[in-house]
Parts: sequence; C-alpha cells; structure tokens
Amino acid sequence: MSRYPEPTLAEVADWWTTGVTRIAPGEVEHRGVPVADIIGERDLVSAMYFLVLGEWPCTAHRDLLEAALVGSMDHGPQAPSIAVARMAATCGIGINNAMASAVNTLGDSHGGAAQQCVELLNDVVGYAEREGVTIDDATEVVVAIWRERSPYLPGFGHRFHPIDPRRGPLLGLVEAAVADRHVAGRHLTAALRVEAILAAQRTPVPMNIDGATAVIYAELGIAPELSRGFFVLSRSIGILAHAWEERSGGRRNKGPMPPAILPTYRPSAPIPDVSAPPAAP
Ligand SMILES: CC(C)(COP(=O)(O)OP(=O)(O)OC[C@H]1O[C@@H](n2cnc3c(N)ncnc32)[C@H](O)[C@@H]1OP(=O)(O)O)[C@@H](O)C(=O)NCCC(=O)NCCS
Repeated sequence: MSRYPEPTLAEVADWWTTGVTRIAPGEVEHRGVPVADIIGERDLVSAMYFLVLGEWPCTAHRDLLEAALVGSMDHGPQAPSIAVARMAATCGIGINNAMASAVNTLGDSHGGAAQQCVELLNDVVGYAEREGVTIDDATEVVVAIWRERSPYLPGFGHRFHPIDPRRGPLLGLVEAAVADRHVAGRHLTAALRVEAILAAQRTPVPMNIDGATAVIYAELGIAPELSRGFFVLSRSIGILAHAWEERSGGRRNKGPMPPAILPTYRPSAPIPDVSAPPAAP
C-alpha cells in the first residue's frame, strides 16, 4: 500500500509544468510562439535568449550576447575541455559522449569564472546602490571583502596570455553599447576599476575572457549561474569542432601525451587499506 494517495491525471500532468515549450500533435510552441514563426524569422542567439530568458532581446543586446558566445568558443587543445574532447573522441565513443566528457571539465577553475565574476560585479553595483557611493568607491570596498576570502579575483589573470586578445574587442563592444545607451555601463565601470586595482599590485593582472564576458552577462542582467550555462553552450561548439577533427584523423586510443613521454613516477608510501577492519583497542 503506497503512502501517497492515488495521483489525479491533473497532478501527473502538472508534475513537469513548463512555460518553455508546449507540444500537441502537429504543434510545437515556444513560450507562446509557434515554432514555424521562429524558424527562418529569428537567428539562433535571439531564439536562445528567448527560450532561456523568456523575452526577445533588442538588437544591441543580441549582438553583445553573440559576441560573448563567439569569444568563448574555443581555446585550442591546451584548454582541458578541448583536450578531453579530443582524447575521448579517439576512444571509440560517440560524439555525444566525447562532448559530454569535455563539458564535464568546465567548472570553477576552467571556463566557469564568469559566474563568480558576475557575482563580484553585481556585489559592487549592489553596494554602490545601497550605500549611495560611486561605483569606483564601491569597487574598492567590495574587492577588499572578496580578497579576504581569496587573493585571486575571478575573471582576471591568465596562465598563458599576458593580455587576453579577447578582452579588448569585447570591452570595446560594451563601451559602444554604453555610449548608445543600450546598457547602463555600471558593471563595465566596476570591472575596469577592479582591473586598475590589480594593475597597481606587484604583478598586474588584466581581465581575461571570463571577466570580459562577465561584463556582458552582468550588463544584460543575466544571472551568474546562467552565465556559466551560456559559456558551456559556446564552448560546446569548440568541443564539437575538435572532437570531430580528431575523429576524422582516425587515430585510436590517444593518451594525453605521445607514448614516448611517460608521466613522472615517484613511488610514495603504501596507501593504507581502508577496507581492513579496525584494529582491536
Ligand atoms: C588564471 C590563473 C589561474 C592564472 O594564474 P597564474 O598565471 O598561474 O598566476 P599565479 O598564480 O602564478 O600568480 C601570479 C601573480 O598574479 C597574481 N594574480 C594572478 N591572478 C590573480 C587574480 N585573479 N586576482 C588577483 N591576483 C592575481 C597572484 O597573486 C600573483 O601575485 P604575486 O606575483 O604578487 O605573488 C589566475 O589568474 C586565476 O586564478 N584567475 C582567476 C580565475 C579565472 O579568472 N580563471 C579563468 C582563466 S581564463
């Protein structure tokens, strides 16, 4: 005997209630718009924005989001996500499995810093509004608070690029959108102020791709976690390109390094057998 009462048909139908998509025989509708009115009428970025956020973007916002997505697509096999995509593709698994393996490497320290950077920039703008101070002054306070937790600020610094080549073009587009009053520019001001603070430290640390795209996401009012979702969508394109190229090369079972090079072997103390019963007291 179940402890739950017999569900009604309505309760079952309500289980996955959604405002995103409705289907019926011969019908597909996204957020109230028949798919036939979207196909051929709207570009992918607009349709994606609409599906995820529930409203059509204006052209300027669409262009900014598209620029962020284009900028994050790929960073070559030196990036863990791309290396994993290529290695997985040689293992005889399907393209979807290779892509999923690669996407699963994206997180706080690879590809995910835009999420925390949007949080940082939102903190600055929120503090400025609450306390009635300038964005520059708010940045000084919020950066000091964040640096008590970690000296590393998300969205700044790069292991490879002294200056990230994607930073300039992306920020240029945001500056133009601010000049045309399409976005307010407060998050941009905050990010530039953070960069100025980091430029004054012993090792200057300019904004990276995650920081520059975070400026766009934050200016568009996109939630921090969604920013990471958009990065994943964008990087999936590079992942697909590399998995496909590697697959087309025909090499099988490629390891992370050419077989002539082996990982350093440094025998360590024996690992204790945790399955052994505890010693009698
Ligand atoms: C990307 C990252 C790991 C590269 O680090 P790295 O080049 O190995 O830099 P190091 O850890 O050797 O740090 C070098 C110096 O720069 C400083 N620095 C590096 N990144 C910094 C950051 N994000 N914020 C503040 N200071 C930073 C370090 O404190 C260090 O200072 P010091 O010389 O006075 O000791 C690092 O910049 C970072 O963690 N950034 C934040 C996370 C992020 O945005 N990741 C996405 C990268 S695209």
